[in-house]
Amino acid sequence: MSDFRKSVVYQIYPKSFLDTNGDGLGELKGVTAKLDYLKELGVDYIWLTPFFVSPQNDNGYDVADYRSIDPRYGTMADFEELSREAGKRGIGLMLDMVFNHTSTEHEWFQKALAGDPKYKSYYIWKKGKPDGSPPTNWESKFGGSAWEYVPSFDEYYLHLFDKTQADLNWDNPDVRREVQEVLRFWMGKGVRGFRFDVVNLVSKGEFADDQQGDGRRFYTDGPRIHQYLREMNEATFGREEGILTVGEMSSTSMENCFQYAGADSRELSMVFSFHHLKVDFMGNEKWVLVPADFQRLKEILFSWQTGMAAHNAWNAVFWCNHDQPRVVSRFGDEGEYWKQSAKMLAGVIHCLRGTPYIYQGEEIGMTNAGFADLSQYRDVESLNHFRILRDKGMSEESVYNILKVHSRDNSRTPMQWDASENAGFTSGTPWIGVNPNCRTINAAAQVGDPDSIFSYYKALVRLRKDCSVIARGDFTPLDQSHPAVLAYKRSLPGEELICISNFYRKGCTWKCPEDLTGYAVRLSNYPDPQPGRETALRPYESMILLRRK
Ligand code: GLC
Repeated sequence: MSDFRKSVVYQIYPKSFLDTNGDGLGELKGVTAKLDYLKELGVDYIWLTPFFVSPQNDNGYDVADYRSIDPRYGTMADFEELSREAGKRGIGLMLDMVFNHTSTEHEWFQKALAGDPKYKSYYIWKKGKPDGSPPTNWESKFGGSAWEYVPSFDEYYLHLFDKTQADLNWDNPDVRREVQEVLRFWMGKGVRGFRFDVVNLVSKGEFADDQQGDGRRFYTDGPRIHQYLREMNEATFGREEGILTVGEMSSTSMENCFQYAGADSRELSMVFSFHHLKVDFMGNEKWVLVPADFQRLKEILFSWQTGMAAHNAWNAVFWCNHDQPRVVSRFGDEGEYWKQSAKMLAGVIHCLRGTPYIYQGEEIGMTNAGFADLSQYRDVESLNHFRILRDKGMSEESVYNILKVHSRDNSRTPMQWDASENAGFTSGTPWIGVNPNCRTINAAAQVGDPDSIFSYYKALVRLRKDCSVIARGDFTPLDQSHPAVLAYKRSLPGEELICISNFYRKGCTWKCPEDLTGYAVRLSNYPDPQPGRETALRPYESMILLRRK
């Protein structure tokens, strides 16, 4: 468990994982009930998205109490049981720490609103402009202004996300001490890792109008961010062996990530960056429909692979999470080549240099939600953008076409356990619609089937443990400009691996720039792969070749 280069993390969105009490919402007991399934998959850690007390305006990313479990998700005893049972199976728990902001229902914010100066200085307050408009033109990530006016102070507070998520003032040392105490509290409960939500946004720079954009350049990778992370590390998780930490880095730069996740920088173990998941955006604009730029995808993935390696820094590698659409719908095929494309995409991630993350349901090839009615959407960002796009004059149909591709609810539909009603997720009414394709796409149909997507993920998790080259090898792109193929080589003295993937539903030929003598196929998504000097690749065909000397 301790070598995080050989580890695989499984992300759970508890609300949509398994409901054991029939209220339509998943809870911690549901996670405990499925530990054997996760053990079968072979993962080392579970990252649980927030289950703390919260009004749930952003599904728990609006925390009202960092030390208590929201009764909707269970009790502290449930958490302790989960931790114990996971430990017995060699699985560590990672918690999601949302320290850029608190819910406005948090006691600190409530005291701030009541005028307590100590707590007022926990948040970021500014006077409006002389004409009464917000202090800067910064935009909330969920749409609209990033400032909310409070008449009793004649001041605005900053919220980079929803207006019920007030940004904490990390320049106040008391705030930094508070978050450290929260970390120590959970470490005391045996937690083995932390994921830090949008943590590169916590150090704000200058508060000025952004003439070029939405304000992000003033608070992303801000002026004291490395100091704050080092301080947190030294005061908490850095004191214990083997705690895995990952920072969610919003719109970050690679140069900053060299430090965030550098082997010697004493900040974090690894980082999530998202540039490779913006290849179907227009710049930073997500609410558009543009085809994915495959060359750009390779450029970004490969430059992060080689750049981070050159600086001895470590990546988290992933396609999916609770904020991203399902990868098989996004870069694969939901139809005829569903299975092949899901396996191909898995192979690409799992052989990279970095720690792979699997998001619940990815391992069975779950697809986008397909919601085409506003009543089906739950996500605050999607609901806000529905309104914003409509106000710009877009037809409802066009708005739904965009949401069907980009909405975060695409990945939040309940986990598909079996073919029964509600996919075995709940006996009640699910809080968000179940994808009707649960009749065919479900875990029960896949766990015992050696040809399933689940079995392929299991084999990939195993492969990382069996082959040091995946955890430790160098990374070299192969034939990067090929129009349809993504291929790379990993190498260590004595062990080499080549991963070749056709990203399209059309067959193609690929000429290997390497001599393939001595290589054997370790995994493939077709039964009879034929690697050679010139390989004919079938739709979405993928091969993982290994050579040992
Ligand atoms: C992160 C989370 C996302 C949340 C946001 C605000 O991006 O992954 O779900 O809405 O931070 O906390």
